[in-house]
Amino acid sequence: MKTFSTLSALAILASSVSAKTVFSELGVNGVDLGHGVAVRVPSTNTGITDITSNNLICNTNFVQPVSSVVATVPAGSTVTAHFHHLSAGYVGPDPSEPLDPTNKGPVLAYLARVPDATQSTVTGLQWFKIWQDGLDSTTHQWGSDKLFINKGNATFTIPSCLQAGQYLLRVESISLLDASSYPGAQFYMSCAQINITGGNKVQPVGVAFPGAYKSTDPGIVTNIYGTVSYTPPGPAVFSC
Ligand SMILES: *[C@@H]1O[C@H](CO)[C@@H](O)[C@H](O)[C@H]1NC(C)=O
Ligand SMILES: *[C@@H]1O[C@H](CO)[C@@H](O)[C@H](O)[C@H]1NC(C)=O
Repeated sequence: MKTFSTLSALAILASSVSAKTVFSELGVNGVDLGHGVAVRVPSTNTGITDITSNNLICNTNFVQPVSSVVATVPAGSTVTAHFHHLSAGYVGPDPSEPLDPTNKGPVLAYLARVPDATQSTVTGLQWFKIWQDGLDSTTHQWGSDKLFINKGNATFTIPSCLQAGQYLLRVESISLLDASSYPGAQFYMSCAQINITGGNKVQPVGVAFPGAYKSTDPGIVTNIYGTVSYTPPGPAVFSC
Protein backbone atom coordinates (compact mmCIF):
# COMPACT_ATOMS: atom_id res chain seq x y z
CA MET A 1 0.00 0.00 0.00
CA LYS A 2 1.29 3.45 -0.88
CA THR A 3 1.95 5.77 2.01
CA PHE A 4 0.78 9.36 2.03
CA SER A 5 4.33 10.65 1.61
CA THR A 6 4.86 8.46 -1.47
CA LEU A 7 1.67 9.82 -2.97
CA SER A 8 2.70 13.39 -2.20
CA ALA A 9 6.07 12.82 -3.83
CA LEU A 10 4.33 11.36 -6.88
CA ALA A 11 2.00 14.33 -6.95
CA ILE A 12 4.94 16.75 -6.99
CA LEU A 13 6.72 14.75 -9.69
CA ALA A 14 3.58 14.48 -11.77
CA SER A 15 2.87 18.20 -11.45
CA SER A 16 5.85 18.95 -13.66
CA VAL A 17 4.13 17.16 -16.56
CA SER A 18 1.16 18.62 -18.38
CA ALA A 19 -1.68 16.61 -19.85
CA LYS A 20 -1.45 18.29 -23.21
CA THR A 21 -3.89 16.59 -25.50
CA VAL A 22 -5.81 17.67 -28.60
CA PHE A 23 -9.03 16.33 -30.12
CA SER A 24 -8.18 16.54 -33.83
CA GLU A 25 -10.05 13.80 -35.66
CA LEU A 26 -13.58 12.47 -35.87
CA GLY A 27 -14.94 9.01 -36.59
CA VAL A 28 -18.58 8.26 -37.42
CA ASN A 29 -19.85 4.70 -36.96
CA GLY A 30 -16.25 3.46 -36.85
CA VAL A 31 -15.14 5.26 -40.02
CA ASP A 32 -12.38 7.84 -39.55
CA LEU A 33 -12.90 11.07 -41.45
CA GLY A 34 -9.19 11.90 -41.37
CA HIS A 35 -7.01 14.29 -39.40
CA GLY A 36 -8.53 17.75 -39.04
CA VAL A 37 -11.55 16.98 -41.22
CA ALA A 38 -14.64 18.72 -39.79
CA VAL A 39 -12.70 19.57 -36.60
CA ARG A 40 -11.41 22.99 -35.52
CA VAL A 41 -7.97 21.88 -34.37
CA PRO A 42 -6.11 24.18 -31.95
CA SER A 43 -2.50 24.68 -33.05
CA THR A 44 -1.10 24.10 -29.57
CA ASN A 45 -1.86 21.46 -26.94
CA THR A 46 -1.94 24.00 -24.13
CA GLY A 47 -4.68 23.54 -21.55
CA ILE A 48 -7.13 26.32 -20.76
CA THR A 49 -7.35 27.14 -17.05
CA ASP A 50 -9.62 30.22 -17.08
CA ILE A 51 -13.19 28.94 -17.05
CA THR A 52 -14.52 32.46 -17.71
CA SER A 53 -12.68 32.72 -21.05
CA ASN A 54 -14.44 32.42 -24.40
CA ASN A 55 -11.56 30.10 -25.32
CA LEU A 56 -13.26 27.51 -23.11
CA ILE A 57 -16.00 27.19 -25.74
CA CYS A 58 -14.15 25.70 -28.70
CA ASN A 59 -10.48 26.54 -27.94
CA THR A 60 -8.42 29.06 -29.96
CA ASN A 61 -5.48 29.59 -32.39
CA PHE A 62 -6.70 27.02 -34.89
CA VAL A 63 -4.52 25.28 -37.45
CA GLN A 64 -5.26 27.09 -40.73
CA PRO A 65 -7.19 26.68 -42.85
CA VAL A 66 -9.93 25.41 -40.56
CA SER A 67 -11.83 22.57 -42.21
CA SER A 68 -14.91 23.65 -44.15
CA VAL A 69 -16.33 20.13 -43.97
CA VAL A 70 -19.53 19.48 -42.03
CA ALA A 71 -19.63 15.78 -41.17
CA THR A 72 -22.89 13.92 -41.76
CA VAL A 73 -23.85 12.13 -38.54
CA PRO A 74 -27.09 10.13 -38.50
CA ALA A 75 -28.93 10.57 -35.19
CA GLY A 76 -28.29 7.51 -33.02
CA SER A 77 -24.88 6.86 -34.56
CA THR A 78 -21.66 6.21 -32.71
CA VAL A 79 -19.09 8.97 -32.85
CA THR A 80 -15.42 8.76 -31.90
CA ALA A 81 -13.38 11.81 -30.94
CA HIS A 82 -9.68 11.07 -31.43
CA PHE A 83 -7.33 12.77 -28.98
CA HIS A 84 -3.56 12.90 -29.49
CA HIS A 85 -0.67 14.45 -27.58
CA LEU A 86 0.12 16.89 -30.38
CA SER A 87 -2.16 18.96 -32.58
CA ALA A 88 -0.54 17.24 -35.59
CA GLY A 89 -2.21 13.99 -34.50
CA TYR A 90 -0.40 10.69 -34.07
CA VAL A 91 3.24 11.13 -35.09
CA GLY A 92 4.81 8.00 -33.59
CA PRO A 93 5.56 6.35 -30.26
CA ASP A 94 5.37 8.82 -27.37
CA PRO A 95 4.88 8.03 -23.67
CA SER A 96 2.48 11.01 -23.45
CA GLU A 97 0.36 9.79 -26.39
CA PRO A 98 -2.57 10.44 -26.39
CA LEU A 99 -2.09 12.18 -23.04
CA ASP A 100 0.17 11.82 -20.03
CA PRO A 101 -1.31 8.90 -18.06
CA THR A 102 -0.70 10.66 -14.72
CA ASN A 103 -3.14 13.38 -15.71
CA LYS A 104 -6.35 11.98 -14.30
CA GLY A 105 -9.72 13.46 -15.07
CA PRO A 106 -13.03 13.18 -16.90
CA VAL A 107 -13.85 13.25 -20.61
CA LEU A 108 -17.09 14.93 -21.68
CA ALA A 109 -19.07 15.65 -24.85
CA TYR A 110 -21.56 18.44 -25.56
CA LEU A 111 -23.67 19.54 -28.53
CA ALA A 112 -24.99 22.98 -29.50
CA ARG A 113 -27.35 23.70 -32.39
CA VAL A 114 -26.06 26.30 -34.84
CA PRO A 115 -27.44 27.82 -38.03
CA ASP A 116 -24.20 26.89 -39.84
CA ALA A 117 -21.64 24.50 -38.36
CA THR A 118 -18.81 26.34 -40.15
CA GLN A 119 -19.72 29.71 -38.58
CA SER A 120 -16.88 31.21 -36.60
CA THR A 121 -19.18 32.63 -33.89
CA VAL A 122 -19.37 30.27 -30.93
CA THR A 123 -20.61 32.63 -28.21
CA GLY A 124 -24.24 32.67 -27.14
CA LEU A 125 -24.87 28.99 -27.89
CA GLN A 126 -26.86 26.57 -25.74
CA TRP A 127 -24.82 23.45 -24.94
CA PHE A 128 -26.25 20.18 -23.70
CA LYS A 129 -24.16 17.31 -22.46
CA ILE A 130 -24.52 13.97 -24.26
CA TRP A 131 -21.80 11.90 -22.60
CA GLN A 132 -19.30 11.90 -19.77
CA ASP A 133 -16.78 9.50 -18.33
CA GLY A 134 -15.72 10.51 -14.82
CA LEU A 135 -14.37 8.11 -12.20
CA ASP A 136 -15.51 4.49 -12.07
CA SER A 137 -15.77 3.85 -8.34
CA THR A 138 -15.41 0.08 -8.87
CA THR A 139 -12.39 -0.07 -11.20
CA HIS A 140 -11.00 3.32 -10.02
CA GLN A 141 -10.45 4.19 -13.66
CA TRP A 142 -10.85 7.78 -14.76
CA GLY A 143 -12.17 8.78 -18.16
CA SER A 144 -8.57 9.79 -18.91
CA ASP A 145 -7.38 6.24 -18.11
CA LYS A 146 -9.86 4.83 -20.62
CA LEU A 147 -8.82 7.46 -23.16
CA PHE A 148 -5.21 6.31 -22.68
CA ILE A 149 -6.12 2.61 -22.96
CA ASN A 150 -8.24 3.29 -26.06
CA LYS A 151 -5.31 5.12 -27.70
CA GLY A 152 -7.12 8.47 -27.60
CA ASN A 153 -10.54 7.28 -28.79
CA ALA A 154 -13.51 8.68 -26.86
CA THR A 155 -16.58 6.91 -28.24
CA PHE A 156 -20.20 7.78 -27.50
CA THR A 157 -23.66 7.86 -29.12
CA ILE A 158 -25.45 10.83 -30.65
CA PRO A 159 -28.94 10.79 -29.08
CA SER A 160 -31.41 9.34 -31.60
CA CYS A 161 -34.28 11.76 -30.83
CA LEU A 162 -32.48 15.03 -31.65
CA GLN A 163 -33.80 17.56 -34.11
CA ALA A 164 -31.94 17.16 -37.41
CA GLY A 165 -29.65 20.02 -38.35
CA GLN A 166 -26.22 21.50 -37.84
CA TYR A 167 -24.43 21.32 -34.51
CA LEU A 168 -21.05 21.90 -32.95
CA LEU A 169 -19.79 18.87 -31.05
CA ARG A 170 -17.53 19.95 -28.18
CA VAL A 171 -15.43 17.13 -26.74
CA GLU A 172 -13.32 17.90 -23.69
CA SER A 173 -10.66 16.18 -21.62
CA ILE A 174 -10.03 17.73 -18.20
CA SER A 175 -6.81 17.19 -16.25
CA LEU A 176 -7.35 17.39 -12.50
CA LEU A 177 -3.69 16.84 -11.65
CA ASP A 178 -3.26 20.38 -10.27
CA ALA A 179 -6.92 20.91 -9.41
CA SER A 180 -6.73 21.09 -5.62
CA SER A 181 -7.44 24.83 -5.97
CA TYR A 182 -8.77 27.12 -8.72
CA PRO A 183 -7.29 27.88 -11.22
CA GLY A 184 -5.62 24.52 -11.55
CA ALA A 185 -7.74 22.14 -13.62
CA GLN A 186 -6.69 22.14 -17.28
CA PHE A 187 -9.34 21.98 -20.00
CA TYR A 188 -8.55 20.52 -23.43
CA MET A 189 -11.32 20.72 -26.04
CA SER A 190 -12.06 21.06 -29.73
CA CYS A 191 -15.30 21.45 -31.63
CA ALA A 192 -16.36 19.32 -34.56
CA GLN A 193 -18.77 20.55 -37.24
CA ILE A 194 -21.59 18.06 -37.73
CA ASN A 195 -24.92 17.77 -39.54
CA ILE A 196 -27.29 15.45 -37.70
CA THR A 197 -29.66 13.68 -40.06
CA GLY A 198 -32.79 11.65 -39.32
CA GLY A 199 -33.61 11.98 -35.64
CA ASN A 200 -36.78 13.33 -34.19
CA LYS A 201 -37.80 16.77 -33.00
CA VAL A 202 -36.16 17.04 -29.59
CA GLN A 203 -34.25 20.24 -28.76
CA PRO A 204 -32.73 19.81 -25.30
CA VAL A 205 -32.34 22.76 -22.95
CA GLY A 206 -28.72 23.87 -22.83
CA VAL A 207 -26.24 25.78 -20.70
CA ALA A 208 -23.84 28.56 -21.66
CA PHE A 209 -20.06 28.38 -22.12
CA PRO A 210 -18.49 30.14 -20.39
CA GLY A 211 -20.84 29.98 -17.42
CA ALA A 212 -21.63 26.30 -17.07
CA TYR A 213 -18.50 25.74 -14.99
CA LYS A 214 -17.88 27.48 -11.67
CA SER A 215 -14.60 27.95 -9.84
CA THR A 216 -16.20 26.32 -6.79
CA ASP A 217 -17.51 23.21 -8.59
CA PRO A 218 -16.33 20.05 -6.83
CA GLY A 219 -15.79 18.63 -10.33
CA ILE A 220 -13.23 21.38 -10.99
CA VAL A 221 -11.66 21.81 -7.55
CA THR A 222 -10.71 18.26 -6.67
CA ASN A 223 -7.85 16.40 -5.09
CA ILE A 224 -7.44 13.28 -7.25
CA TYR A 225 -5.35 11.49 -4.63
CA GLY A 226 -7.64 9.32 -2.55
CA THR A 227 -10.79 10.42 -4.39
CA VAL A 228 -13.32 7.59 -4.42
CA SER A 229 -16.30 9.35 -5.90
CA TYR A 230 -16.37 12.15 -8.41
CA THR A 231 -19.07 14.03 -10.34
CA PRO A 232 -17.88 15.74 -13.52
CA PRO A 233 -18.73 19.45 -13.88
CA GLY A 234 -21.60 20.79 -15.98
CA PRO A 235 -25.22 19.74 -16.36
CA ALA A 236 -26.69 16.23 -16.27
CA VAL A 237 -26.26 14.09 -19.37
CA PHE A 238 -29.20 14.43 -21.76
CA SER A 239 -30.86 11.23 -22.88
CA CYS A 240 -33.88 10.73 -25.14
C1 LIG B 1 -10.38 4.45 -32.92
O1 LIG B 1 -11.54 4.77 -33.66
C2 LIG B 1 -11.42 4.55 -35.06
C3 LIG B 1 -12.72 5.00 -35.68
O2 LIG B 1 -12.90 6.39 -35.54
C4 LIG B 1 -11.12 3.10 -35.34
O3 LIG B 1 -10.91 2.93 -36.71
C5 LIG B 1 -9.87 2.68 -34.57
O4 LIG B 1 -9.67 1.29 -34.73
C6 LIG B 1 -10.04 2.99 -33.10
N1 LIG B 1 -8.78 2.67 -32.40
C7 LIG B 1 -8.76 1.99 -31.23
C8 LIG B 1 -7.43 1.75 -30.65
O5 LIG B 1 -9.78 1.62 -30.66
C1 LIG C 1 -27.64 18.29 -43.65
O1 LIG C 1 -28.44 17.17 -43.96
C2 LIG C 1 -29.62 17.52 -44.66
C3 LIG C 1 -30.45 16.24 -44.78
O2 LIG C 1 -29.75 15.26 -45.47
C4 LIG C 1 -29.26 18.12 -46.02
O3 LIG C 1 -30.43 18.50 -46.70
C5 LIG C 1 -28.37 19.34 -45.79
O4 LIG C 1 -27.92 19.83 -47.04
C6 LIG C 1 -27.17 18.96 -44.94
N1 LIG C 1 -26.40 20.15 -44.64
C7 LIG C 1 -25.06 20.15 -44.58
C8 LIG C 1 -24.41 21.45 -44.26
O5 LIG C 1 -24.38 19.14 -44.78
